[in-house]
Amino acid sequence: MRTYLVTGGAGFIGSNYIHYMFKKYDKEIRIINVDALTYAGNLENLKDIEKRDNYTFVKADICDKEAISRVFAENDIDRVVHFAAESHVDRSIKHPEVFVQTNVLGTAVMLNCAKAAWELPDGSFKADKKFLHVSTDEVYGSLSEDGGYFYETTPYAPHSPYSASKAGSDMLVKAYMDTYHFPANITNCSNNYGPYQFPEKLIPLIINNALQGKKLPVYGDGRNVRDWLYVEDHAKAIDMVQEKGRLFETYNVGGHNEKQNIEIIHIILDTLQEMLPDDDPRKALVSEDLITYVEDRKGHDRRYAIAPDKIKAEIGWEPETCFKDGIKKTIAWFFEHEEWLKNVTSGDYQKYYEDMYHTK
Ligand code: NAD
Ligand code: TYD
Repeated sequence: MRTYLVTGGAGFIGSNYIHYMFKKYDKEIRIINVDALTYAGNLENLKDIEKRDNYTFVKADICDKEAISRVFAENDIDRVVHFAAESHVDRSIKHPEVFVQTNVLGTAVMLNCAKAAWELPDGSFKADKKFLHVSTDEVYGSLSEDGGYFYETTPYAPHSPYSASKAGSDMLVKAYMDTYHFPANITNCSNNYGPYQFPEKLIPLIINNALQGKKLPVYGDGRNVRDWLYVEDHAKAIDMVQEKGRLFETYNVGGHNEKQNIEIIHIILDTLQEMLPDDDPRKALVSEDLITYVEDRKGHDRRYAIAPDKIKAEIGWEPETCFKDGIKKTIAWFFEHEEWLKNVTSGDYQKYYEDMYHTK
């Protein structure tokens, strides 16, 4: 049975990936989820699978060398899928240090522990061991409005402390591959949306605020462009890259789904109106009048757009969910998980799980 070490599996993409993998492989795999449970980590995201005997949760910080070495020493890990990171650009502008700590140092610890566990005396690596580093298209910087795409060969030009720290972590992975021939891949994905996304990011924030009749903050002129991908498509891409990709390669993941932020907000408002029943009191709250232009984000990247040609040609991956369907699925999920949203926004979930797992 293949054993996966997933870092950051209690976060948005990590928890979707774990759900995806158990749906696909069921009892053929074992997953060990290492997560520090920061504000973004929520074990409620994994409630459905937490009692599986092929799933283990370990509360640990990826910067903690001893804890991570122990996980490798106690388990024969075949695959690492490294999600754990500080992930929100606005937070990185306010508190850059923790981004360097977790994203750069934490990745160095993960690489070092995996190398120590997998390296043979002659400097080669045990067979069929693979490390996948999950990264972002933001490392490539910003595109102009009128054209161009991010390719795997596009030079890195990060602007925010978040993207700079992710670029640093990517460079470390590249250095390990170049120096030690360490068996790894990097994926650089565009903006994700879907179930379990923390409501500080644009799409869940707009859904959550609109349903409560709260203002919908639009940074700058609202015309910044992001290339949106439904999270399950990302989970599938990660699995396919790890199983079918060429080792040591980088793959860009995205779905040619560019939209201006203001367009996204209008689509969400229209879809909410369409999906809410007439007798739901929230229907009257959802209104374009809530749209509020606010001061622009510092160093705000104008446009991101991925060219997914390589992953399509080499691996046959393509996104399956179009934005119209993906946003409906996401909104339906938020309708069905009001309690989740309430807990996440109140912070109660952290206390609940600290008590449950005696992790305080
Ligand atoms: P998230 O913020 O929702 O989750 C991050 C998870 O990592 C949380 O569970 C958190 O508790 C955990 N974590 C944070 N610091 C940790 C530490 N020091 N030790 C152990 N665990 C720690 O993030 P996400 O949106 O799910 O993103 C996951 C990964 O995917 C990140 O590496 C991010 O850069 C990358 N990515 C995200 C997007 C996106 O649109 N969200 C797009 C492309 C790539
Ligand atoms: P975000 O979801 O934070 O992702 P990222 O910055 O990593 O792309 O933001 C997506 C876009 O939405 C980005 O251009 C900033 C903008 N934005 C707003 O206009 N208002 C908001 O309240 C938020 C959170 C983001």
